[in-house]
Amino acid sequence: MPRLRTMTIQGGRAAFFDVGQGPAILFVHGFPLSSSMWRGQLEYFQTKYRVIVPDLPGFGQSESLLTDKNGSLTMEFLADWLAELLELIDCVDPVHFCGLSMGGYIGWQFWKRHTKRVKSVIACNTRAAGDTDLIRRGREIAARQVMVTGAQPVADVMVKKLFYQEREGLHQTDFFNEIHAIISSAKSASVAAGQRGMAKRKDATEWLSSIKVPMLFVAGQHDLITPADEMLGNAKMVENAQHVLIGNAGHMSPLENTSAFNSALDDFLAINR
Ligand code: MLT
Repeated sequence: MPRLRTMTIQGGRAAFFDVGQGPAILFVHGFPLSSSMWRGQLEYFQTKYRVIVPDLPGFGQSESLLTDKNGSLTMEFLADWLAELLELIDCVDPVHFCGLSMGGYIGWQFWKRHTKRVKSVIACNTRAAGDTDLIRRGREIAARQVMVTGAQPVADVMVKKLFYQEREGLHQTDFFNEIHAIISSAKSASVAAGQRGMAKRKDATEWLSSIKVPMLFVAGQHDLITPADEMLGNAKMVENAQHVLIGNAGHMSPLENTSAFNSALDDFLAINR
């Protein structure tokens, strides 16, 4: 693995990978994970692209920055934080924005607020719709709970939801344990802030028909969190968007089926460089 770099953004330490040369791909992780979920893409794409993979504020090695009085980490704030990171590392050309789940929610805001910085959008295991009231209430309960219990119980529940192969008991590989460890060690305040930020996110469905940059939707065949059908429905609303279904994978398609994921992304990028 290359070395994580650090710099200060808005008074907090930001940790990120920035390796390789060529058109830039910005990989944005899901909740409550870190840059390490993209290691299979970092290794593969750095030979022909500039690969930028941050730890979002409060996750991995990046310091936490709360964004409003209610202790939320909003998608708007995270989109602006990413734009600031790109500015600071002199990434001036538009990027291929590749976000998974919460990373995808941030992607809609990044496209809306920093349109000129976007060359294409790769929406992985994510949705355009906002939360229902029921989900919002569940997030608030989860946010309060994590402040009492810490993130270990969150990890126990989430790993099974994230990974199809783990659920099915197909095989155990190191990354299940690694992701479990990442979630367990997440800071409670960041997990709570992320839940509250996601609960507040805008419904981006109406924006889809206005997206004119190339788009790829990547769905996991067995994704419980973002069902593949919903992603296909979103893809149909974007002019000329491509859609790919990754087999043998749940919500974490880049980790569960890295070779299929990388080859789909590689093909898409080759025609949209
Ligand atoms: C994620 O993987 O980022 C989360 O599951 C998204 C969510 O909770 O909606």
